[in-house]
Amino acid sequence: MTDTTTGAADTLVIFGISGDLAKKMTFRALYRLEAAGRLDVPVIGVAVDDWSDDHLHQAMRDALDAEGEPVKKRVFDRLAARCSYLRGDFADPGTYREIASRMEGAVRPVFYLEIPPGLFAPVVAALGEAGLVSNARVAIEKPFGHDLASARQLNDQLHAVLAEEQIWRIDHFLGKQPVLDLHFLRFANALLEPVWNRDHVASVQITMAEDFGVEDRGAFYDAVGAMRDVVQNHLLQVLALVAMEPPVGPGADALQDKKVDVFRAMESVDPARCVRGQYAGYRSVRGVRPRSTTETYVALRLDMDNWRWAGVPFFIRAGKALATRVTEVRVVFKRPPRLGFLDAPRHSDANQMVFRIDPDPGMRVELLSKGADGTSARDVHMDLSFAAELGKPPEPYERLLHDALVGDRSLFNREDSVEETWRVLQPLLDDPPAPLTYKAGSWGPPEADQVVRGYHGWQAPWLP
Ligand code: BG6
Repeated sequence: MTDTTTGAADTLVIFGISGDLAKKMTFRALYRLEAAGRLDVPVIGVAVDDWSDDHLHQAMRDALDAEGEPVKKRVFDRLAARCSYLRGDFADPGTYREIASRMEGAVRPVFYLEIPPGLFAPVVAALGEAGLVSNARVAIEKPFGHDLASARQLNDQLHAVLAEEQIWRIDHFLGKQPVLDLHFLRFANALLEPVWNRDHVASVQITMAEDFGVEDRGAFYDAVGAMRDVVQNHLLQVLALVAMEPPVGPGADALQDKKVDVFRAMESVDPARCVRGQYAGYRSVRGVRPRSTTETYVALRLDMDNWRWAGVPFFIRAGKALATRVTEVRVVFKRPPRLGFLDAPRHSDANQMVFRIDPDPGMRVELLSKGADGTSARDVHMDLSFAAELGKPPEPYERLLHDALVGDRSLFNREDSVEETWRVLQPLLDDPPAPLTYKAGSWGPPEADQVVRGYHGWQAPWLP
């Protein structure tokens, strides 16, 4: 098989270009790449809708306006000139013959599948039958399976046509700059590494709170729930970057090896240490079943059996319709001994280090200091805003599409890591506790406090 892992692509074919994700993310990513001079291949959009090239260009323009992207006519015209539309039924072999003819001799295509998950395997099989994959990379959106068995089955179906190096599993959180920064900060700063282990860390809390409900995605979300929507993928990937050992060298596999080691060391989740919630009103959302037991909130505990983290629980909570929108990683350190040198000896609070992923990514260190009156003690914070210090980074999809085009796999998930994350969550999927109702705009069901009992409780997130 020829080298598909490196080298620049010569065509981008996007399946599902008329869908929601394209409107919300893909068009803006393409526009920004064009504006930065980083897009230099023809783009062919394929979907079943009866669109023309003009219709596609108008949809792109409308989506950019709706997302508030400032558009320069010169850049947009250049982008439109490279984007064409192909109407096609994904089940019809004629569609793939037409794709082949539109590719005009391109030999290293990227096929990006932003289509319903049930179509991943049939589309890849059809690309194979049409002889289009020998040099191709196939980028696949989430969700990748809905449990361990289905993820394995999908991997088998894809491997019947593609080598693992040709399968690029997308998790857009991995394209977020502060997520990339996690392991860079850890290993580039000697200050952090010596305390990053069970000798100094008491627990880690990962919070992903969203202050909106499932909106117009009721039918999609009701079949999925918070665990499959954001924990199995986004939050476990973040956890892996917080917990992993340093990669032994450059390249995607060195990084993937260390991430998968984290999952391998992780015990499968204990449903007794998990709380599921559903916000009041969720069942009346369009597309949601009237007696749905799908969770819109989940809080759980994960433990690792390795030298760095044995005995240090990692807590995850994620939910929709919560009090605010924030995603953060919070490392809670062990308390120092009692401050016996004070006139009135007292215990100090635990230091905490926070990495905020969204919004306004940054880092905070929480310390205890002496008040100006010379006697009282006060919490003080050292805050760093990444954008203010380092400038504005590319958007996740801009980065991921670019990486797929140039052949850098570092930010895409490997088969073993996806299967291990499903293995970790499988007991909860098999035996989910009943969801508890919570008020929209709250912090989820109060019972979630039990998950962190004995570990400082859930900490109020650092808000911008
Ligand atoms: C998606 C989930 O993968 O991530 C959504 O399907 C969630 O439910 C979204 O809202 C969050 O992504 P971001 O980048 O807006 O934090």
